Amino acid sequence: MTKNIQALRGMSDILPAQVGLWQKLETAIRELTSSYAYQEIRTPIVESTGLFQRSIGEETDIVAKEMYTFADRNQESITLRPEGTAAVVRAGQQHGLLYNQEQRLWYAGPMFRYERPQKGRYRQFHQFGVEFYGVASADADAEVLLMSAQLWKKLGLFEHVSLEVNSIGLAAEREAYKQALIDYLTPLAERLDEDSQRRLQTNVLRILDSKNEQTQALLADAPVLSDFLTEQSQAHFARVCQLLDYAGITYRVNPRLVRGLDYYNHTVFEWVTDQLGAQSAILGGGRYDTLVEQLGGRPTPAVGFAMGVERIVLLLEQHAFGQDTVQSADIYMIALGQNAEQVSFLLAQSLRDALPYARVLQHCGGGAMKKQMKRADRSQAQFAVILGDDEIAQEQVIVKSLRGQSDQVVLAQSALVSYLETHLHENNKG
Ligand code: HAM
Repeated sequence: MTKNIQALRGMSDILPAQVGLWQKLETAIRELTSSYAYQEIRTPIVESTGLFQRSIGEETDIVAKEMYTFADRNQESITLRPEGTAAVVRAGQQHGLLYNQEQRLWYAGPMFRYERPQKGRYRQFHQFGVEFYGVASADADAEVLLMSAQLWKKLGLFEHVSLEVNSIGLAAEREAYKQALIDYLTPLAERLDEDSQRRLQTNVLRILDSKNEQTQALLADAPVLSDFLTEQSQAHFARVCQLLDYAGITYRVNPRLVRGLDYYNHTVFEWVTDQLGAQSAILGGGRYDTLVEQLGGRPTPAVGFAMGVERIVLLLEQHAFGQDTVQSADIYMIALGQNAEQVSFLLAQSLRDALPYARVLQHCGGGAMKKQMKRADRSQAQFAVILGDDEIAQEQVIVKSLRGQSDQVVLAQSALVSYLETHLHENNKG
């Protein structure tokens, strides 16, 4: 016997029973971005490997060990995108969208990271993200933060999530701080966890968000980044916090929040939840004023975030929208015999044309009335529309209600549309 081929580890099928929740989330995202006047951008799923190396940073976990990188047939190194920001910058620059103008953009789609799969962490996952270019002041940071808060409100999740913010200042400020942290941690190196020992050499800031308890205890007396920020950087962060306060969004300043990508400066933030086990980060972002220049463009201030769609779907299952029942149709067309079959096809199309909100399912495969009615029932349709030779001869049709009291009416075919228009449930007319 041949072995069945399964989906790759960490890559999920989204089945019809789950897709309803995804579509509701996608609708909420569309409404949100439209109400904030953001425009959608779509970029390719693969890019040159160099794009991610130069933006996310060589020493980050993403670039060092999580990228899906291949040589194409021309021996060029290409990578399945592990995130969206770098590609949006690349596209914005390539098409002249960024220079000397404001751009408010959003995107959604699959991303790829070769991580160890567990609940909420996958190798193919989906992000929804926004990127706002051209404004350096704190009001732009506040705009994307308030937008993210509004999404939770819209989805009924606001009480299950909380916001953490921090400022990591400018590169020069961070360099001074990194040196101070290295000086502080080097004598303690042997007591750090293995990952942090490595990071002491490569990416010392990431030690701050180590999950290891002993490492966290050692950090208790470490120098803090905010002491290294200039007055100007502190003022930027204070203004972000002030705007959040005024809008009534509560947050915690987490001085150890540094994020796992290298391109940030000033404000960084994460929305977290305590309802998903280890994968608590549901949305992350911040300001990245040097990335456009780093990728060859002119200096362009930027701020944005990305949300993990699967993690939000898990939260929605637990709290908000609940499980959808799978209802595959509103109207089920039953045809008895070949003549009826051909008329039924045309009648079904006239229903679809006249009632675009209705899902009209045509029975295929023939069979007796009993079999077709059974299928109609299983589809959870509200009405069966039945055609046999007698009905065709009289230009009539039988309509049977499948929900509630099962009454049955015989109508002229010409009256079918207006009958169904009146009797289909209100909620199908959206
Ligand atoms: P990130 O923090 O790497 O940021 O990812 C954003 C979100 O994607 C995370 O908070 C998490 O919800 C989700 N996520 C990340 N990895 C996985 C995974 N393996 N499985 C499931 N979900 C995952 C970025 O990607 C930045 N580009 C965000 C940004 C946009 N910064 C500025 N603009």
